[in-house]
Amino acid sequence: MKVIRFEKFGNPAEVLAAAEVPVPEPGRGEVRVRMIASPINPSDLLTVEGRYGVLPKLPATPGYEGVGVVDRAGPGLIGKFYVGKRVAVLNQAGANWAEYVTLPALRVVPVSSDLPDEQVASFFVNPATVLAMARHVLAVPKGAWLLQSAAGSTLGRMMIKLGQHDGFRTLNIVRRREAMDELKALGADAVICPADGPIDEQVRKVVGGEGVSYAIDPVGGDTGTGVFDSLATGGRMLVYGTLEEDPIRVDPRKMIAGKRTIEGFYLGHWAAERSKVKMLLTFREIADLIRKGVLATEPGREFPLERINDAVKEAQAVGRRGKVLLRISAPER
Ligand SMILES: NC(=O)c1ccc[n+]([C@@H]2O[C@H](COP(=O)([O-])OP(=O)(O)OC[C@H]3O[C@@H](n4cnc5c(N)ncnc54)[C@H](OP(=O)(O)O)[C@@H]3O)[C@@H](O)[C@H]2O)c1
Repeated sequence: MKVIRFEKFGNPAEVLAAAEVPVPEPGRGEVRVRMIASPINPSDLLTVEGRYGVLPKLPATPGYEGVGVVDRAGPGLIGKFYVGKRVAVLNQAGANWAEYVTLPALRVVPVSSDLPDEQVASFFVNPATVLAMARHVLAVPKGAWLLQSAAGSTLGRMMIKLGQHDGFRTLNIVRRREAMDELKALGADAVICPADGPIDEQVRKVVGGEGVSYAIDPVGGDTGTGVFDSLATGGRMLVYGTLEEDPIRVDPRKMIAGKRTIEGFYLGHWAAERSKVKMLLTFREIADLIRKGVLATEPGREFPLERINDAVKEAQAVGRRGKVLLRISAPER
């Protein structure tokens, strides 16, 4: 079968290549999935670059999520239940950019057939992160402002739509002015660009008073610092990505006297701390909100595995629209 592999960490467009390897057999408690499609997410690219929190042993195959059909179960009861089902493939080991993948049966989620493959391929990473941060960790109340950077990202757009759905307001930071109108048309309550002045000054002009009580930032560096500086007394900021290498600079007085907090958010930790029943409810919630268009992923260009280098270049392009998808095999309907 065909897989995408890398033997050293580096620029994904240079170190990733297609290879032929034997089709794997599922072990006890595992299933084997024939992959249909898998998105290219920032976490996949950071892993290949060697800049992600958890790194695989080399050689490795990337791909944390995707959609496929379970074609075989290893010994054990649970796996047999999934054979023949189309599933979202939540692969913590990140090896989904392959024609077949084996993984623990509990890491696949059967998804209702009314959702198209492109949505099931991106069923978990972004939708669950949006729900977890807005509804569970920050619990942003109706009417409150949520400040977010990299707002034009797939995740940022979902957050704008969830704000409209749940009744909180989004104040959105984009690095390119061209993206401002587009996000307003999507339902953003306000959009600002760092090119127009310091982030904290712009934020206070929009919300008035001291600043915002809720903020999320996947960028870091100057943008993350501007987001932290925009917090009101008692304000809370979640840091959930490292799109820039530079660290966030925090004035400790703002934390000590001003009770402002900054915390990391990682979906893997959040999901691991939730009970299986609660996760099942979250999957149902996600499917429902994808159907309503709130947590739907905007589809981008599609590439076969053989064109992996073009695919990652497209995923890294500034101003790209939609999520780039590796189309691995024909859908089975
Ligand atoms: N912690 C977690 O558990 C978790 C889970 C899911 C996602 N994430 C993180 O969420 C972020 C968004 O993911 P996604 O799938 O939505 O990404 P995406 O669709 O690939 O979009 C990336 C966005 O980031 C912007 N961007 C890239 N580099 C930037 C920089 N240096 N400064 C400012 N903006 C920059 C791009 O802006 P342009 O439009 O201008 O090109 C684009 O809008 C990523 O950092 C990802 O790692 C974290």
